[in-house]
Amino acid sequence: MPYRAWPILLPLLLLGIIAGSATPISHAEEDGDRESIGERFHGQTSLTWPDIVLDLFRLKPDRPAAYKSYSGATVTKLPKPDYRGVPLEESLAERRSVRNYAKKSMPLSTLSQLLFAAQGVTGKIYGHTLRTAPSAGALYPFEVYVVVNRVTDLPKGIYHYAIEAHALEQVREGDFSGELTSAGLNQEMLGEANVTFALAAVFDRIRHKYGERGYRYTYMEAGHISQNIALQAVSLGLGSVPVGAFLDKKVNELIGVDGRREAVIYLHAVGML
Ligand SMILES: Cc1cc2nc3c(=O)[nH]c(=O)nc-3n(C[C@H](O)[C@H](O)[C@H](O)COP(=O)(O)O)c2cc1C
Repeated sequence: MPYRAWPILLPLLLLGIIAGSATPISHAEEDGDRESIGERFHGQTSLTWPDIVLDLFRLKPDRPAAYKSYSGATVTKLPKPDYRGVPLEESLAERRSVRNYAKKSMPLSTLSQLLFAAQGVTGKIYGHTLRTAPSAGALYPFEVYVVVNRVTDLPKGIYHYAIEAHALEQVREGDFSGELTSAGLNQEMLGEANVTFALAAVFDRIRHKYGERGYRYTYMEAGHISQNIALQAVSLGLGSVPVGAFLDKKVNELIGVDGRREAVIYLHAVGML
């Protein structure tokens, strides 16, 4: 196990085995026609020509605003992200998941660069922004939040990245390292990282065009964003790890999103070395 979650995972594993022996997870092979929820999701969001045609007549949700903004929040303008680091090939060769960090403060300029790598604006088309990571239909369903633990000149708290302004809006002030660690199945690096990114998808931004298949696209896009953070972290001489194992409800509550219209898909911890 790559992370220290045994104390919580072991009892859950035992419970799972007991529950599993009573109600086995349905895999199509073992269970005839009964599909598992994952198989159903994958099957029912697969593209076929008839689906593409029918989709034109299907009711889709309204398109929400392209950006979220926290009006009245304290805003911290970020330094210009103009860092030039090691060649991409070196970052690719050196990237590893790193889970131990030094107790040094992270400069605000470093956080600025990481946020830019995640979702910074790199172009415009028909008045819409284009960003560092690709997005299906350029619809950009993601909102980026950071749980700040140790950043110079930035109080501990939860912040929302205001993409167009390249600024941080404070969502909550305080030390959330303990809550984040326990919501992340006691993976200690979440509490020790200088910052942890929480990538949250506003699903209707993408469902508006792609229907339920849009969910797949958000998961793919989370991977793009996370990889940008990982490679930028290497280039900045930092350690980072993507985290997919967390209690969804707890993390959503912590960030302040409802978990249905907007939900945290992926976490990414980054720390000084
Ligand atoms: C979707 C996904 C979820 C992951 N979730 C976790 C996690 O919850 N905790 C963790 O410590 N590492 C997590 N990882 C990191 C993997 O453990 C790591 O990438 C893998 O062991 C390979 O090592 P490397 O990243 O150093 O090459 C995750 C990676 C991916 C792609």
